[in-house]
Amino acid sequence: GATGTAPVGTNRNTAAQRVGRAAVDWQSLGFGFTPTNCYVKAVWREQTGTWSPVEVVPYGPNGEATFPLHVASTALHYGQSIFEGLKAFACADGHVRLFRPQENARRLERSALRLNMPVVPAALFLEAVTRCVYENLEFVPPYVEQGGGGSLYVRPVLFGSGGRIGLGPADEYTFMVLVVPVGNYYKGGLSPVTAYISTNYDRAAPRGVGHVKVAGNYAADLKPSMEAKQRGYPINLYLDAREQKFIEEFGTSNFSAVRYLDENGNRYVYVTPDSPSVLEGVTNKTLMELSLDAGMKVERRRIPVEELATFDEVFASGTAVVITAVDQIVYGDQVIGIGKHPGSGQVGPVARRLYDTVRGLQTGRLPDRHGWTYLV
Ligand code: COI
Repeated sequence: GATGTAPVGTNRNTAAQRVGRAAVDWQSLGFGFTPTNCYVKAVWREQTGTWSPVEVVPYGPNGEATFPLHVASTALHYGQSIFEGLKAFACADGHVRLFRPQENARRLERSALRLNMPVVPAALFLEAVTRCVYENLEFVPPYVEQGGGGSLYVRPVLFGSGGRIGLGPADEYTFMVLVVPVGNYYKGGLSPVTAYISTNYDRAAPRGVGHVKVAGNYAADLKPSMEAKQRGYPINLYLDAREQKFIEEFGTSNFSAVRYLDENGNRYVYVTPDSPSVLEGVTNKTLMELSLDAGMKVERRRIPVEELATFDEVFASGTAVVITAVDQIVYGDQVIGIGKHPGSGQVGPVARRLYDTVRGLQTGRLPDRHGWTYLV
């Protein structure tokens, strides 16, 4: 596809015409890497203590997507790397909008400080993200295809690109943003899956780096999550590292549960773990706010594993998955059923409603009362 050269926001009519024009089979999008037109980057150097301007870097003519890196970069050797995930959507009015990018800018800052990295100012973060989406508008899934969960997934990453062999912070950092058109993270989308509690592993220590989006957290999850998959469970769940008693989060997403307070299902409470080592999810924050809007109660507290069997709904929430319902949880030799009809493939009404609300806000079908969307 043609790469737009107009500065962001100069010609929205042209922008609308570019959406969805890439040679992509929108019907069969999964969650995999595809080269697009380009990625963008900025570099911070200790010498100047400043960030370079944002640079647009095209992928190769055959989709080559490699990046030259110092052989001793601190990202490769010591895992000094953090990332973000957010999404852009084509809306009914033809505009493309990001969802809550300022939240990601703030979290990237918290992650950077924890790994002793320079902060990417929010203005630079928003400029790079917006620019990358704009330069790749052809790859934003068209509005009509969004029933399948399509969006342009935006992946900012900040890493130590300077070389250093003794342990210490790098003298150069690269902030890169790439985009990928995606569909559902799990094949069935919202449909319920069976989760597997990884009882032999901890995800994160109470005062470690579990609350921030550090690359190594995801490396540490690879073996436990692959073991769960080999047993036939697409998603794994961790308990707290200190006592193995309380629900922490899934390998790639936060844990949410719903309890119906009265017999008729007229009062609901949204429950999510309070723990210093769970990732501060933007989707979970959004779901809590939407639950309050809907007159539900929200509880952020410790959740003992024994409480699982008493919930009416459980689901995983995250940017990539949005919401994936969980109706059974394997814990040692026990199978814990969630809700009245575990294993029947039904999605609970609260998960369904929250999902529809989030998607509706993201794609501009519902009024944006909170000011969460951000025009590209
Ligand atoms: C996201 O939900 O955006 C994430 O960063 C999780 C990742 C494993 C896909």
